[in-house]
Amino acid sequence: MYQKEQDHPPLVELDKDHPGFRDKAYRQRRNLIAKIAYGYKKGGEIPSVEYTRDEHEMWSQVLILLFQLHNEHACQYFLDAKSLINLNDQKIPQLFKINVQLKQLTGFSMIPVGGLISPEHFLLNLADRKFCSTQYIRHYSSPLYTPEPDIIHELVGHAITLAHPFFSNLNYHFGLAARRAKPESFQRLIQAYWYTLEFGLVSENGNIKAYGAGLLSSIGEMPSYKNKAELLPFDLDKLSRTPFEPTDYQPSLFVAPSIYELENGLMEWLENFE
Ligand SMILES: [Fe+2]
Repeated sequence: MYQKEQDHPPLVELDKDHPGFRDKAYRQRRNLIAKIAYGYKKGGEIPSVEYTRDEHEMWSQVLILLFQLHNEHACQYFLDAKSLINLNDQKIPQLFKINVQLKQLTGFSMIPVGGLISPEHFLLNLADRKFCSTQYIRHYSSPLYTPEPDIIHELVGHAITLAHPFFSNLNYHFGLAARRAKPESFQRLIQAYWYTLEFGLVSENGNIKAYGAGLLSSIGEMPSYKNKAELLPFDLDKLSRTPFEPTDYQPSLFVAPSIYELENGLMEWLENFE
């Protein structure tokens, strides 16, 4: 028993600024859901989480708002991806059900993790077409924002995009680049992922649109980044050398001139990364 617990990282620890820090019931819930994820064995069945009525309610409220925001702010490939995958906007979907759809569309699958994992572990799994996903939902007091990735971010931001060949291919090539990357250059790869597939912007018909999962899953940041962030021209060398702070709105974002230049530029950069 003691040995078994040693195999797992410690259960969820919330920062004192976290919206759920003083909520004992929420902390217990997070621990329970983390334990379910730690029960997952590579190649085994994806464990389900029995969500509560309040959790489904939170999912539904946030999803309806996000889906409205996408009409104005999301790039065309994301809108296309939304029509490829069926996300129930009333109930939080189970990862194993999402995987049935994703595997048919692009070969990707979501695998559960109990909380934050190392960026190396995250990126290396992409080369196996596995996307590490949390299963808990944000604290009820903070529907606009979550300091860490929750199931809304994972499914709306990432599972939708992984249904589309444009995004799934780029994720896969980030994984291949991670396999080749020298330890001293790994941080550049992490930063490139952050400023593209997490927080990337692209110009479409003269309008700036979001393609990054972090923006596309944020009710607060998606409609406000144009006023709050400095918008910079797409430059992979520069963005891969730009540090980021994950727990706040982004002060700088990079805008690709077109989806084609983004795809070609990023693919070439990833294929030559070492
Ligand atoms: Fe993410």
